[in-house]
Amino acid sequence: MEIPELFNAALLAKLEALAGTPCFVYDEAAIRRQTETMKQFPAPFGLFPRYAMKACPTRAILSIIAEQGIGIDASSGFEVDRALRAGIEPEAISLSTQELPADFGQWIRKGVKLNACSLSQLRRYGQEFPNTKVGIRFNPGLGSGGTAKTNVGGPSSSFGIWHEQKEEVAAILAEFNLTAERIHTHIGSGSDPSVWQRTAHLSLALVREFDTVESLNLGGGYKVARMPDEVSTDLLKIGEPVAAALTAFAEETGRKIRLEIEPGTFVVANAGYLVSQVQDIVNTGPGGHQFIKLNSGMTELLRPSLYAAQHPISIIPRDADGSDRPKEQYVIVGHCCESGDLVTPAPEDGETLASREFPRVEIGDWCIIGGAGAYCSAMSTKNYNSFPETAETLLNPNGDLSLIRRRQTLDQLLSNEI
Ligand code: LLP
Repeated sequence: MEIPELFNAALLAKLEALAGTPCFVYDEAAIRRQTETMKQFPAPFGLFPRYAMKACPTRAILSIIAEQGIGIDASSGFEVDRALRAGIEPEAISLSTQELPADFGQWIRKGVKLNACSLSQLRRYGQEFPNTKVGIRFNPGLGSGGTAKTNVGGPSSSFGIWHEQKEEVAAILAEFNLTAERIHTHIGSGSDPSVWQRTAHLSLALVREFDTVESLNLGGGYKVARMPDEVSTDLLKIGEPVAAALTAFAEETGRKIRLEIEPGTFVVANAGYLVSQVQDIVNTGPGGHQFIKLNSGMTELLRPSLYAAQHPISIIPRDADGSDRPKEQYVIVGHCCESGDLVTPAPEDGETLASREFPRVEIGDWCIIGGAGAYCSAMSTKNYNSFPETAETLLNPNGDLSLIRRRQTLDQLLSNEI
């Protein structure tokens, strides 16, 4: 549904009464639709789909995921704890982390699975849990992401055990009598589908090397089109050659490998909206720019500043006849004292201002930013300029809106200061 259609006057009135702005709105029906598609990922010998909770870890979202029968990919001990507190079964959680906490053993004893992401992590796991099974995250030697910042494979990436260190892995497994049960690779977000497919084959080659492995986790990273000119990866289509390779592998070796995928973006990106309001309009004279200042900013949405990411933006006039206003060009900025708090950078160049055209905008108009379900609320410069963490709401399939996270208060923001 187009943004202005979804955010009709009735929904905006509900939102104003419930949460005010800025605030996130997540469309529950859209999240459920995406998880249903995920479950159909081709896998000849079984599939366990997971949700990369780092994309949007609010409890209400995790509950929907659990109801859909989807497991969890956690990226820190804190995320594991958060998922458990949200009622996720420990066996449904897999931890792949850059920082393995000193007390990680408590999660493993509960049933959480670990993908060791470095040789030292594998050794620490072996010391604490000898004679057990473990997963191993490899860097397959190849990566691909929408930008260099979201590419997490290849020699310039620190994620996972470098694929040529197989002997070191085998030696640690032998030293602690560990059994490798899963190979994990994740090469980036917004990956090129053809690189992803090549990596899937490289990952299967690693499965071949470790003959105890029963499942292969191919990570996330599936592109979704936020803007009209972007192309989404067809999740089911890119999986087909991988499924064929798994079948051929089974015929050759007798090993029926189970598949796991763990997207975040695919599940929630286009199910989320950031609703804010125009709180000021300024211009820098002839030859300059006309700026819209929102009452949100990098404190809610960092992706444009960090990646020059493009998000769909609609302005909805406060007054009913506002769409008759003449069109003008606007650069949209956030409320932080930081020229990098830019909502409309030029594509692929975060330093350059780009403008968008809207019917003349007035202070108080609504601004709805789409594609904001993944890595927006979860990944922001929260509390910068002492702006409080924003509210989140869930649009239920029956059209009701419920508050799932209150706006933080200044008292809460200060509560740990001594
Ligand atoms: N699995 C692992 C091990 C990951 O590190 C990630 C993302 C995912 C799965 C999910 O990737 P997704 O399907 O969401 O692309 N903040 C960036 C993306 C970086 C995410 C890092 N890891 C963004 O705003 O697009």
